[in-house]
Amino acid sequence: MTQTLDAFTVAIDGPAAAGKGTVARALAEGFGFAHLDTGLLYRAVGMKGGDPVAAARTLAAADLRRDDLRSLAAAEAASVVAAIPEVRAALVEFQRQFAQMAGGAVLDGRDIGTVICPEAEVKLFVTASPEVRARRRWHESREAVPYEEVLAQVRARDARDMGRDSAPLRAAEDAVIIDTSDLSIAEAIARASAIVRASLAAARSRPTAPP
Ligand code: CDP
Repeated sequence: MTQTLDAFTVAIDGPAAAGKGTVARALAEGFGFAHLDTGLLYRAVGMKGGDPVAAARTLAAADLRRDDLRSLAAAEAASVVAAIPEVRAALVEFQRQFAQMAGGAVLDGRDIGTVICPEAEVKLFVTASPEVRARRRWHESREAVPYEEVLAQVRARDARDMGRDSAPLRAAEDAVIIDTSDLSIAEAIARASAIVRASLAAARSRPTAPP
């Protein structure tokens, strides 16, 4: 008999434009999980203006619907406010509650497997070389920015995200690393799906505690 799934969390971390959003969306669609792109929270705080700590504490659904959140400027602003510990602290509870949603949830970001959901059933670290990531961002950007400038931004953001004191970007010790430098989107999704499938099967076959 198949049990209904209570909480089941997939944590995906990795640097800019590594493909974690694409993998996260595909897993959500394929397995029926809810999906939270946690980068959007930091982008919205960065673009709100004013005091970033106050912006994080009062973040509302409407702030996440702005149409400029995918811009390069929003990515820069996000990475600056994301280094402030009080901003991160204000966003923790919302992310943890989302992760516990019945039916399963996938969250992608920088510190999901390390800080937000250290107990996640599946942890993936999706990465790729800076050159490959900058090329992808350059291709998908509708802004007329030279490739070299996008590469410089990717490198600067990597350095800031990995070098900050508060929840720096790094793979959790038990994360599975998926390097997408030489993988197609379909191959990256297939690898991630196989890992989730195996973990789900293990979770479903575990005996449940008596009521
Ligand atoms: O899509 P991309 O990887 O370029 O960016 P994003 O995931 O939307 O994240 C934008 C910025 O927000 C990152 O460079 C991080 O500084 C910050 N961020 C974070 O610190 N923690 C997260 N969980 C998600 C994003």
